[in-house]
Amino acid sequence: MSQSLVTMSYIVATILFILSLSGLSNQETARRGNYYGMIGMTIAILATIFSGAVTSYGILIGALAIGGSIGLFAAKRVEMTQMPELVAIMHSLVGMAAVLVGYANFLDPSTGLTGVEKTIHEIEIYLGILIGAVTFSGSVIAFGKLSEKISGKPMLLPARHWLNLGLLIGAVVLGGMFLSQTENGGGLTPLVIMTVIALLFGIHMVMAIGGADMPVVVSMLNSYSGWAASATGFMLNNDLLIVTGALVGSSGAILSYIMCRAMNRHFLSVIAGGFGTASGGEAAVVEGEVQPIGAEETAQLLLSSKNIMIIPGYGMAVAQAQHTVNEITKFLRDKGKKVGFGIHPVAGRMPGHMNVLLAEAKVPYDIVYEMEEINEDWDEVDVSIVIGANDIVNPSALDDPNSPIAGMPVLECWKGDTTIVMKRSMASGYAGVGNPLFVKDNTRMLFGDAKKMLEEVLKALKG
Ligand code: TAP
Repeated sequence: MSQSLVTMSYIVATILFILSLSGLSNQETARRGNYYGMIGMTIAILATIFSGAVTSYGILIGALAIGGSIGLFAAKRVEMTQMPELVAIMHSLVGMAAVLVGYANFLDPSTGLTGVEKTIHEIEIYLGILIGAVTFSGSVIAFGKLSEKISGKPMLLPARHWLNLGLLIGAVVLGGMFLSQTENGGGLTPLVIMTVIALLFGIHMVMAIGGADMPVVVSMLNSYSGWAASATGFMLNNDLLIVTGALVGSSGAILSYIMCRAMNRHFLSVIAGGFGTASGGEAAVVEGEVQPIGAEETAQLLLSSKNIMIIPGYGMAVAQAQHTVNEITKFLRDKGKKVGFGIHPVAGRMPGHMNVLLAEAKVPYDIVYEMEEINEDWDEVDVSIVIGANDIVNPSALDDPNSPIAGMPVLECWKGDTTIVMKRSMASGYAGVGNPLFVKDNTRMLFGDAKKMLEEVLKALKG
């Protein structure tokens, strides 16, 4: 393949990636966005294979076959609820790739670079390994937390800010040592020590983050994985990888900003860890009487209401109740009721989790509202149905300054006439805090698996 054709293909792939990202920003165009991404990636892989940079097609085909089969197997087997963990572990692979490429580049004697070019190449290697190692270990811990193999509680070491500062200074000093030692053909020792420091930093950073702040970490690691890919692109001299990594890195950074704004957090406080847990006081214990309700009674309440708001949360994903939710929505709308969906930006376990499920069940886009679109209008709502959501409807976020989720905006459904909460028990949500909504006078608890209970409600509605 001629060099100009390779460059041409890289430009086309880059444009398709940009179109893909813009498509993914909206539910109606998301499917198209995915197709653009797939075509772009196919072009990128083919152009790289035939660019002349490949020295052994045997190794390449073997790697593609192994990597492709693992990807195919994981994508087929993984449940929708395990998606966030899968994404986290994928990020860790990008980090690991950056570390391995960095070491391979460092140990490769054939680069033949001298002077400034050599120094720049060594800085690329150092930064690539640094970012890659933080991304790798941070993503592995995020995987553990998201899959609940590691506790969601923040691990708060006594002098954690000093520890972070020490690790940062250590990495900078070692960088200087690395550059000076490479002039004499050395540099491996500071590089290895820095890698260990970066791995520890990644572990410590994510371990220190409280459950409710995990969305920011997920998007932040997404961003880091982009920068790690970009660093790999610099090391391999591959323009497409640099651009694609920068696209992922910057879009992940924007997403982190959006997540922070949605949760009313400062980015730096989240990264420093333990946000909202160091305020000294104890979070309030929830006391009061729970008022249970049955499926039959829920159906009657829905039939006598005009304006209904559905709030889906992680439990809807667990129960895979989205299709039944859609059927109930259709039924109620056919009866002339106004039905809407209120989506919290961090509902579920990954950005856009609820939107994906509702789109899969073919809920019309125009009745799905963002939190800020509806938080002023709760007094017009007759019944809100909370389906497997907890933290995102917790009033203590607004009125308990000691709560770990204090300050996070929530869907204020209790301001409507009646709230029905569908969940299996009184257990807390991801942030591990009690929810006073469950004992409010105008709340009714419909206990049980969301899908099963919704099927019963649908049956009662039809009957
Ligand atoms: P959660 O606060 O985690 O609450 C989900 C509730 O669903 C649980 O209390 C659980 O109660 C219930 N549930 C589980 N399985 C169910 C089933 N089969 N049927 C009925 N109910 C079921 O979820 P949320 O309100 O969506 O809030 C999201 C939380 O996750 C936030 O704290 C957020 O910060 C965090 N988080 C979000 C993300 C992103 S990016 N969205 C990433 C990481 C963490 P029972 O056990 O009693 O049924």
